[in-house]
Amino acid sequence: MKLLDGKAVSKEILKKVKTDIDHHIEKKHLGYNLSRPSIAIVMVGENAASESYVRGKIKACDKAEINHKVIRFEESISTFELISEIKKLNKSHFDGFIVQLPLPDHIDPNSIINEISAYKDIDGFHPLNFGKMALGQKSMRPATAYGILKLLQHYDIQTNSQHVVVIGRSNIVGKPISIMLGNDFEVGRSTVTSCDIHTPKALLKEESRKADIVIVAVGKPGFLTSDMIKEGAVVIDVGINRLDSGKLVGDCDFEDVSQKASYLTPVPGGVGPMTIAGLILNTYEAWKMKNLIED
Ligand SMILES: NC(=O)c1ccc[n+]([C@@H]2O[C@H](COP(=O)([O-])OP(=O)(O)OC[C@H]3O[C@@H](n4cnc5c(N)ncnc54)[C@H](O)[C@@H]3O)[C@@H](O)[C@H]2O)c1
Repeated sequence: MKLLDGKAVSKEILKKVKTDIDHHIEKKHLGYNLSRPSIAIVMVGENAASESYVRGKIKACDKAEINHKVIRFEESISTFELISEIKKLNKSHFDGFIVQLPLPDHIDPNSIINEISAYKDIDGFHPLNFGKMALGQKSMRPATAYGILKLLQHYDIQTNSQHVVVIGRSNIVGKPISIMLGNDFEVGRSTVTSCDIHTPKALLKEESRKADIVIVAVGKPGFLTSDMIKEGAVVIDVGINRLDSGKLVGDCDFEDVSQKASYLTPVPGGVGPMTIAGLILNTYEAWKMKNLIED
């Protein structure tokens, strides 16, 4: 079994983004001096996991030399007040911004995501970007799914004509990766089966045992076991779960699955850093779009 080293691949992507930005700045564009990209990260209330993810995003920005600012609001902020702040950010100098999820229970995340300018939506969650992604058009792409595609591409793992089973169908992970792998692109053209909590367990197992690639994003430690995959399957573990012991684990029974899989993502160090790489790639896209830079 070979580990898919998201940490190393992400590092490479950040380095390349930094060099590409340097290149555009050095040569100027339309006669103008460009400033480096800058993003804002909006945080509402306090959440230990979010603090840790945001630290990772800040580190990545530093590596790619992308300017960043964390903007914090009290947990008690109303939906209306938060939308007003989003509208200000839409008009601000920032090339892009994210609203770190989850939000407090009294705020519907969709009501916030829908207000983010699609041009600054570097998480790729806005309906316009999601719709473009689904249609196979150029867009900011949901960062985790984008990161998974980049990881598969890096390791030259074939997706064309492969059977992929995606377990979990959230709007931010399971649904977009199912759609993207079904799209008609080099990393895509897969036959995708999408399962969620309503999929009968026996059917889910029957499907996952036939899959060439299994992507699991359910948020349940030890969910995927070796009897649920075929010999040599590629397994992408998206889950991030903190055990009572403090240990971070994915959705796979790692020891067990690693006996049978051909490739497997570790947790931590697999999909997590690739999500951040996806965010940085989207930031670079947003910056190029704003400055009318074509590839
Ligand atoms: N690595 C990363 O960068 C990254 C990014 C986002 C989310 N995550 C992690 O991925 C996991 C999933 O995140 P999410 O936001 O998609 O979660 P979510 O709770 O929004 O969605 C979970 C999905 O799993 C499905 N599900 C739950 N139990 C199931 C079962 N028994 N059988 C089949 N389907 C089942 C649900 O129906 C749902 O579609 C979490 O652990 C989260 O922390 C990791």
